[in-house]
Formats: sequence, structure tokens, C-alpha cells
Amino acid sequence: DEMAEERGLSMVTCTAPVNIAVIKYWGKRDNDLILPINSSLSVTLHQDQLKTTTTAAASRDFAEDRLWLNGEEADVGHPRLQACLREVRRLARKRRGGSDEDAAPLSLSYKIHIATENNFPTAAGLASSAAGYACLVSALARLYGVEGELSEVARRGSGSACRSMLGGFVQWQRGERPDGRDSLAHQVAPETHWPELRVLVLVVSGEKKQVGSTAGMQTSVDTSPLLKHRAEVVVPERLALMMRHIRERDFEGFGQLAMRDSNQFHATCLDTFPPIFYLNDLSRHIIALAHRFNAHHGRTKVAYTFDAGPNAVIFTLADTVAEIVEVVRRSFPPAANGDQFVRGLPVGSASLPEELLAAVVTEPVPGAVWYILHTKPGPGPQLVDDPSQHLLGVDGLPRRRA
Ligand code: DP6
Repeated sequence: DEMAEERGLSMVTCTAPVNIAVIKYWGKRDNDLILPINSSLSVTLHQDQLKTTTTAAASRDFAEDRLWLNGEEADVGHPRLQACLREVRRLARKRRGGSDEDAAPLSLSYKIHIATENNFPTAAGLASSAAGYACLVSALARLYGVEGELSEVARRGSGSACRSMLGGFVQWQRGERPDGRDSLAHQVAPETHWPELRVLVLVVSGEKKQVGSTAGMQTSVDTSPLLKHRAEVVVPERLALMMRHIRERDFEGFGQLAMRDSNQFHATCLDTFPPIFYLNDLSRHIIALAHRFNAHHGRTKVAYTFDAGPNAVIFTLADTVAEIVEVVRRSFPPAANGDQFVRGLPVGSASLPEELLAAVVTEPVPGAVWYILHTKPGPGPQLVDDPSQHLLGVDGLPRRRA
């Protein structure tokens, strides 16, 4: 009965994925609407290994909007969170066509409670605003019965979040309009398109404080002539090329371009004034290792990419996973929890030929890599049907503390 439902508590839980860009987004032309200076392209990672879960609830009994992140209450007034909330409510109002609000399934004036958590340790430095905002927007949209184009709303939370609204291979088109209506994410290919593609996240220890993406890219836009050239000339060419490599499942083309684009992103950081350094000695060690590995095989079998943090992401194909994992294990011998060194999808064992060891594994750095997470491309946000999975109880409060 609709009246009963309106009186009670409405609750929705969604999950959303992390994505990793192979053509990087770096730089905004509009800071408020989060409109980028160039298009970008990413791979959505599988939620079995990395996901955010968000429960959104509305009730006329709630006195105020509230938010919990990993069990801890957090500030609900964050401007980007408020922008997402406002946009979803605007779409809901539009959808209801200005009909009497009291007749609507869920009153837009009810306060909401939001709880969100990640299935990976926050300390791993993977705490992704992309998965977080994609999940928030998915849950809110379901709660208010809004369907259709939501990447535009997720974009208002974090630019890269719009790409987490879809699975597989996703392009965020920069768009041309000043109002951002055409700055949207589109699926280039679904996750099933390239079944052999694998992703290894090298979670490194000793994460340090760094310049955040939002502040960093603003300084880059203001000061880097290389970034301007990249956005105007390099990225349009690379996007077309990358889409072809993906379409053709050409790993060598895909991997080489992914590495070049990661390197150019970090070059624009160095070209920023004052310069920004996201790559460190360990990143450079991993980069050199990948190139030695590929040189030994005489072709591109692994490709690295780095974002605005110290973790490395390696793309490879299923038949190479065991070998590269063993190379990483030999290069960065695990300090303590050796059995937990490889997590996620199962990895077979590989014994490395002596000549490969000699050519590729030079100067091991014990303990530098905390663990390897083995994953693959995956689908976009999902609705969680099972009510026992809600992060909020019937009282609208978090069920378990982190
Ligand atoms: C290096 O999406 O975190 O990961 O839009 O300011 O929230 P805001 O920035 P964010 O930037 C991500 C930058 C990157 C590259 C990428 O994901 O494309």
C-alpha cells in the first residue's frame, strides 16, 4: 500500500566499481561543473575485488541528512556531495512532471541517511572517490526512482566517477557545451569483450601525503604548456588509437599506449610549476621492471599505469599473470604475510627460467610491495536485492561499526 510505504522507511543499496584510466583525465575547464579539458578512457575493475557499497534511506522520521563513511559519521555538507544530491532530486522532480509531491512514491522533502563502505582497506590508498560517487548517485537514483543518464550527475561528485557508472571500457567525452550536458560517459565495449585481459594492482607500502587530484590538476592547467598541448593535440589522436586497440583486442598496442599516456600524465605533473611528483623511486623501479620483462620477451606483455598516488596498476593477459606475479614476488620479496601477498583472483604457480631471472630481477627491494590484487574488467554499478546487505538498520542507523 503506497500510503504505508510513504509513512515508512525507503531504503536502497547499490555497489559500484573502481576504474583505472588508460587515457588520463587531468585538468578542468570548469571547476564547479567538473568539465574536463580532454576526453579520457578507462577500464572498469571487477567489483568482486574492489567495490564501494552504499545504502541510501529516506524517512519522514529523519530529522537531518546524515552520512557514515566506513562506519564513522562524516560531514554531509560537502559541496560535491550536495551537488549530487541536488541533481538527483532535480531529475526526480522533472520525472514526476511537477505532479503533486504528496502523490509521489517518496517525498523529496524527507531527510536522507547514507552509509558507505569499501571492500578493500582504506589504508591501501585505493579509497576511490570515483567508486564512492558512482555508488552514491546509483543508490540515490534508485531511491528516488530516477533512471537514464546518470554519469552527468556522478561527474559532479568527481570527474573520474562518471566513468564508474558503466562497466567494461568507458570513454568520458569532454563535451563542448558550457553547461556540461554533453560531458558524459559512454561504454566503448562491455567487460565481456576482452575475456583474457587481467589487472594487477600493486599496493605499495609506506604511502605518503601527496597533492590531491583536484588541486594538482588546477595548478597544472594554470602553469603547464605541456598539458595544454596534450589536451589539444595528443589526447584526441590517442583516444582514437586506443579505441581501435580495444576493439581489436590488440594487447601490444593497448599496453604501449597505456604506458605512454601514464608517462605523459606524470610529465605534465613535472611540467607543472611548482612541480608535482606522484612517481617515486619504487614507481620508477616498477616501470623499469616492466620494460625489462617486455624486452626479455621481445614484445609488450605487461603495461603499467600510475595515477595521483604511489600504487601501480599492471595490465596483462591471463597467460602471463603467473609469470609476472612471480617476477614481482622475486623483485619485492614480501616482508611478513607472505601467504597474503597475492589476493583476488587465483594465480597459478610459475617457476622462472634462470635467464629471465637474470635479465629481469635486479636488486630486489624487500617489503616494498605490500600485496598484489589480481582482478579483471567488470560491470558497472549494481543494485543489491538482498535486504540483509543494507548498511543501515530499520532505525536508519549503521548496522555495524567499522
Ligand atoms: C590521475 O576524478 O579524482 O586519476 O574531478 O577533481 O575529483 P576530480 O579529480 P579525479 O581525478 C582523477 C585523475 C587521475 C586520472 C584519471 O582517473 O583519469
